[in-house]
Amino acid sequence: MKLSAKTKICLIIGDPVAHSLSPAMHNAGFDALGIGNKYVFLGAKVKVEDVGIAVQAMRKMGIHGLTCTIPHKIEVMKYLDEIDEVAKKIGAVNTVLNQNGKFIGFNTDWLGVVTPLEKIIDLSKRKVLVLGAGGAARAAIFGLSKRKAKVTIFNRTKEKAILLAKEFNCEATDLIKKSDISNFDIIINTTSVGMKPREIETPITVEYLTRNQIVFDIVYVPYETKLLIEAKKRGAMVVHGIEMLLYQGTAQFEIYTGQKAPEKVMRAILETR
Ligand code: ATR
Repeated sequence: MKLSAKTKICLIIGDPVAHSLSPAMHNAGFDALGIGNKYVFLGAKVKVEDVGIAVQAMRKMGIHGLTCTIPHKIEVMKYLDEIDEVAKKIGAVNTVLNQNGKFIGFNTDWLGVVTPLEKIIDLSKRKVLVLGAGGAARAAIFGLSKRKAKVTIFNRTKEKAILLAKEFNCEATDLIKKSDISNFDIIINTTSVGMKPREIETPITVEYLTRNQIVFDIVYVPYETKLLIEAKKRGAMVVHGIEMLLYQGTAQFEIYTGQKAPEKVMRAILETR
């Protein structure tokens, strides 16, 4: 990496942000393509009330790319010049490209959900249970619907699941009959349940998971959540949270550089952390 005054800066903003693996993942990608002198990826902790000021400063400084993580994905939308159709539908932006001074918002989170699953299975007509009804769930439901999967939403606050199901033309369930869990081909956890330091929790009861299912947990700390450990015990195929991180990241890398992302190199960074 040989930086100069011509190096284009990409920045992840969030609060907190120090834990983020995006800088390491993208910088390794730039180096692998021999463009480590052209691009650099850094992080900045920005409070949600300061997002507008931060975006304004970035415009003035000609920052090239802006990655948004929790809790900025919705707030940032107010300050952009254009939001692409997919991000509009999802209702959140995780990627901002500075295109000759025009700040354009994208969402690549849905690819973080769909791409790893599509490597295993054709999603069309698959019965998918999405756990949660927040921003990550919206990206997942958008992607799965786009691939023609049959989505059912389960959420702690039932009303939110119902509203979301209406918006995306899918189903909501309260899982009163817990054995219904066995009927789904794929189960995706988009809630924070199971995330460190609450590693012993699972978002649903695990006794009805079966070996015919794929269970995907977007939580990546710990690497293998209790939900995935229990799913594996029952013979299910599991997809780890780092897969989402990787594939939202490779899509984002391509927006920032216009080049195909070096997936293997970027994966290696996530797997060794
Ligand atoms: P994100 O943008 O990461 O998806 P979010 O918008 O805050 O985050 O959404 C968090 C989701 O996790 C919500 O669906 C939330 O359920 P509620 O709608 O009932 O709040 C869910 N969630 C968070 N903590 C939970 C818990 N302890 N048990 C069950 N669901 C939980």
